[in-house]
Amino acid sequence: MTNAILRASHMPIQETPPFSAGEFRSAMRNVPGTVSIVTTGTRPGRHGLTLTSGCSLSTEPSRVLVCVNKNAGAHDMIKESRVFCWNILAAHHAGLAQTFSGQDGSKGDVRFTEGLWQALATGAPSLIEAICSFDCRVVEAHDAGSHTIFVGAVLAQTMNTDSEPLVYVKGTFAVPQVHDSRH
Ligand SMILES: Cc1cc2nc3c(=O)[nH]c(=O)nc-3n(C[C@H](O)[C@H](O)[C@H](O)COP(=O)(O)O)c2cc1C
Repeated sequence: MTNAILRASHMPIQETPPFSAGEFRSAMRNVPGTVSIVTTGTRPGRHGLTLTSGCSLSTEPSRVLVCVNKNAGAHDMIKESRVFCWNILAAHHAGLAQTFSGQDGSKGDVRFTEGLWQALATGAPSLIEAICSFDCRVVEAHDAGSHTIFVGAVLAQTMNTDSEPLVYVKGTFAVPQVHDSRH
């Protein structure tokens, strides 16, 4: 086993993979993602986008990460203000997720006319009915090609655990079914 690992670590890394960007996107369509909205800024200069590339990074200290496209309206503001709020959406937030992915052509602050928002520690908009909101100060920003990976130190959080979470898979919104392992 150890020899196999050593051999693998000495294999040259293929820089040009034997599949196209389209094939990579097709594979990624099958990976379920937690649907969230990342926000930054204060009224009337708020920005936010729908995002599935967020996750918990560390529990002690409490850290999360979000991957934001450099072309997204919120990107430069997160980079400059060094704050963001990561809002995990519930099943009834599919319409909000569409709005914050720009599907109705809206941009910037006008997106926040939908939903109820409040400020926690940083001032970035926190969705009152989100399953969880994590209000963060940016402690690291890593360049990652088309995206920047922002690592956030969580300064405040909220929880509404009665709702079901919203996921995105195979190009559509879905709600996970609870699996009872006793059956
Ligand atoms: C389900 C879903 C997941 C998305 N995930 C991400 C993501 O992880 N990172 C990202 O930068 N954009 C993601 N997007 C795209 C942005 O929401 C979209 O480009 C948005 O319009 C960017 O905001 P802007 O219009 O203010 O530039 C996602 C969109 C959808 C519908």
